[in-house]
Amino acid sequence: MKVLDTNFVQGFIRMCNDGYLQGWHERNGGNLSYRIKEEEINLIRNELNFNNNFVPIGTNVPKLGEEFFLVTGSGKYFRNVILEPEENICIIELDKDGENYRIVWGLSNGGKPTSELPSHLMNHEVKKTLTSGLHRVIYHAHTTNIIALTFVLPLEDKIFTRELWEMATECPVVFPQGVGVVGWMVPGGRDIAVATSNLMKNYDVAIWAHHGMFCSGENFDLTFGLMHTVEKSAEILVKVLSITPNKLQTISVENFRNLAKDFNVKLPEKFLY
Ligand code: 13P
Ligand code: ZN
Repeated sequence: MKVLDTNFVQGFIRMCNDGYLQGWHERNGGNLSYRIKEEEINLIRNELNFNNNFVPIGTNVPKLGEEFFLVTGSGKYFRNVILEPEENICIIELDKDGENYRIVWGLSNGGKPTSELPSHLMNHEVKKTLTSGLHRVIYHAHTTNIIALTFVLPLEDKIFTRELWEMATECPVVFPQGVGVVGWMVPGGRDIAVATSNLMKNYDVAIWAHHGMFCSGENFDLTFGLMHTVEKSAEILVKVLSITPNKLQTISVENFRNLAKDFNVKLPEKFLY
């Protein structure tokens, strides 16, 4: 089967374009990765090229050894993925120890996977273990309103979580564990990958101050939907703060407890202060 004809590649391309249309991917901003299922790789195995050399990932992810990932290319524009997918995205294979990768398909005009590969793979490793393999998608976007809020709210998980939950009734149902926040760090390396993957042990959403967001999820719909929900909530908060520094009313702790009961979600006590 042709790589571009598979459902997972088509879903990946659609998600890149949806994110671009939201305005989250100026220039080469943002990146996306998908941990490919064994049966999906088996469909396309004879389309893959296993002649490239393995090169270092820049971190080690032993629990992902020998897995395949579909990822966006570094410096590539999300808006071009739908037009020329083979030039802008690639499939990589990890070696047995999860220390090196090689490109087996895509980036047909040259290039390498996203510079945030260490963050993507370390997040995948954490989520693969914690969700018994259910989570397969890691998504990084430059979401405008979340970035704006990192200039005016204290960079604390509990402040961001409560403010975002309060902006839309269904937020605590969509991200009941809340959100984590990383202070400003140099992007693209192992340090920010370690900080982000530590947050991913508790949350499906990690905010990078003055930069953007990372989301993790089971599939493209759930992961895009999560990013969309958090960013929409941030947009409402930006509007509220632009009107007044003081909310006249909001969703109370008691309201959250009632919501949790009826929607059968568990909200951590640390956020019900
Ligand atoms: P890449 O083009 O290398 O994916 O980088 C974009 C980005 O958003 C870095 O944080
Ligand atoms: Zn970025």
